[in-house]
Amino acid sequence: MGTPYLVFLIKSMYPSHLWKRGVLQTCHFLHSSPRCGMKTMQAWQAFEHGGPEQLQLNPSAPIPTLKNNIDVLVKVHAASVNPLDVRMLEGYGSAAFNFVRQLNSCSFNAEEFPLQLGRDFSGTVVHIGKSVQNYKIGDEIWGALSPWQNGTHAEYILAPICYISKKPKSLNHIEASSFPYAALTAWSAIKIFGGLCEKSVYGKRVLVIGATGGVGRFAIQLLKTWGADVTAICATDAIESVQNIGADIVLDYEDPEFKQNLRELNGRFDVILDNVGGEYPDLTINLLKKWQNSRYITVVSPLLKNSDDRGIVLGTLMSAVQASFDTAMSVKDGRTFRWAYFVPNGCALKSIAKLIDNKQINPMVEAVYKFEEAPKAYEKVSKGHARGKMIIDFTSSSAESNENKQEQQNV
Ligand SMILES: NC(=O)c1ccc[n+]([C@@H]2O[C@H](COP(=O)([O-])OP(=O)(O)OC[C@H]3O[C@@H](n4cnc5c(N)ncnc54)[C@H](OP(=O)(O)O)[C@@H]3O)[C@@H](O)[C@H]2O)c1
Repeated sequence: MGTPYLVFLIKSMYPSHLWKRGVLQTCHFLHSSPRCGMKTMQAWQAFEHGGPEQLQLNPSAPIPTLKNNIDVLVKVHAASVNPLDVRMLEGYGSAAFNFVRQLNSCSFNAEEFPLQLGRDFSGTVVHIGKSVQNYKIGDEIWGALSPWQNGTHAEYILAPICYISKKPKSLNHIEASSFPYAALTAWSAIKIFGGLCEKSVYGKRVLVIGATGGVGRFAIQLLKTWGADVTAICATDAIESVQNIGADIVLDYEDPEFKQNLRELNGRFDVILDNVGGEYPDLTINLLKKWQNSRYITVVSPLLKNSDDRGIVLGTLMSAVQASFDTAMSVKDGRTFRWAYFVPNGCALKSIAKLIDNKQINPMVEAVYKFEEAPKAYEKVSKGHARGKMIIDFTSSSAESNENKQEQQNV
């Protein structure tokens, strides 16, 4: 049976829109999926703790294979570098994350190295598990992975569908990858740990400490979208950009009068979101209203550091004692104190994508690095004082061209 006859037969069996969609999907799959026989990929990995110089480009890391029916295999187009990546490279969180790796694999031999960093990504689905229903090959998605999972600074990654959503249509992959980890941290701090929502935040006075980082910048835009009155703290050079994303009042922490200015705001706020970590603990707790269920939410907790320093059991106990102390100190005046953590959350990403496509939240990319320049992005993040996200662009790299070469050889 000749090919033209086969094509005619298939065309006559399927309605034309399905036929076209099938062809498109197949073309997309052939273009972006790892071909038969191609089992390795390029990935940035570290084999011991240290600075960005420890990162090595492994040209033959194994492409992950689907482990669960709800996993998708993703070709990464762009991924950001978060402060956590730099700190994990230095060894931060190693004790706690290794403990979770061991629990997940039911083995004491679960290895930290090679350590593949990177928490968020924007990319294309190239393979799906048997039970995946809402995604198909070729879908453009974004997501963020847990810190103990193999990271996104690699050409291909595995992600469970509950960790991803379709990426915002109005953003390219570089802009999209600037959001997921920082945005979900702010989202969980405000909604999950802070217990706040659009209705309860409306008209409330919120103080955001650390306004120019990924978490602070997203939090300000979300809170403004939800109708809060936002005061933000940042450095002198960032005042204008923080005003531009909607902060009602901006305080300059480099101003010699800063602490005095803060004291004048005593008892003003319903919520404080701390993205810096107790820089002015004695001052800030008093900024909350008394006896009005006001909340101090911090994303900087000592849990991981305590576990690194003292081991899992003692470190967790010490953290629990510290949390109880902080809670007791605030409860005496009718305030609450909460530590907040990043939670992977595909549903939240779907809501965030809508806000972005409605132009209520905008991306802020400071610099884009080619895939082979990833260590430079780590160096930049390690110096701090970023005014937007550092992105690794996988599409402008030898990663792509090497893959094409390999594909040609495999054909
Ligand atoms: N708990 C979790 O699961 C979780 C998840 C993600 C992040 N985090 C933590 O949350 C924090 C924020 O994350 P990020 O990604 O937004 O980090 P980032 O991009 O490094 O932002 C940190 C921000 O803090 C500001 N800052 C530093 N010192 C300050 C001060 N004295 N007063 C006011 N602002 C100050 C910095 O401004 P300058 O540039 O002016 O210094 C910067 O805007 C980090 O410590 C990160 O490790 C925790």
